Amino acid sequence: MRFLITAGPTREAIDPVRYISNRSSGKMGYALAEAALEAGHAVVLISGPVCVAAPAGAEIERVTTAEEMADAVQRRMDTGCDVFVMCAAVADFRPRAVSARKIRKSDGLASIELEPTRDILATVRPPKNRRVIIVGFAAESDELEMNAQKKLREKRCDVICANDITRMDTGFDADENELNLYFRDGKKARLPRDTKLNLARELIKIFMMIAENH
Ligand code: C5P
Repeated sequence: MRFLITAGPTREAIDPVRYISNRSSGKMGYALAEAALEAGHAVVLISGPVCVAAPAGAEIERVTTAEEMADAVQRRMDTGCDVFVMCAAVADFRPRAVSARKIRKSDGLASIELEPTRDILATVRPPKNRRVIIVGFAAESDELEMNAQKKLREKRCDVICANDITRMDTGFDADENELNLYFRDGKKARLPRDTKLNLARELIKIFMMIAENH
């Protein structure tokens, strides 16, 4: 199987030295890439700026902005993939205008006007004649199940892997995670707290089961 996995945050420039981003470490996406390779699959990893070492054997494409990630995903989707895992924490907003020169502190900056970035998961589509398993992630601080189910439907995923980001010891920027899975057919599953690599190994098995049932 050919896996297309995104990981890490995106950065949206304010000026040549400043940007908007988030706390994503990329660890979950990199663990998924490692687990897929371990299971004998081919992996293309599209990564935002992170400090994690790339797993040996993955073809890695580095991007910075949400727009660059969207373009890379569409291009890789067009050249073929069987499982698409959108694990990246894409910045939801970007500055409407990017200053070409560094904004001076002495000039002041009362506000930054923002505009939404493209929703990659919701807009990238596989080629018409291919069946691609589509996996989304959801980092939620409240109403975990309701929000995850909504994303499952609206972003037309086969499965959403949701985690509770109010917990300091799991999820964002942590080595461990705990996931609630919501499937397109209405089934649910819970992967209890474990290392991101062990959870990734379980997820790869689950994605393979979805693929077999299609
Ligand atoms: O709507 P929300 O950002 O919570 O949805 C999370 C899912 O959507 C994740 O899989 C994330 O990678 C994806 N996403 C995206 N493009 C965006 C924002 C989120 O693909 N601009």
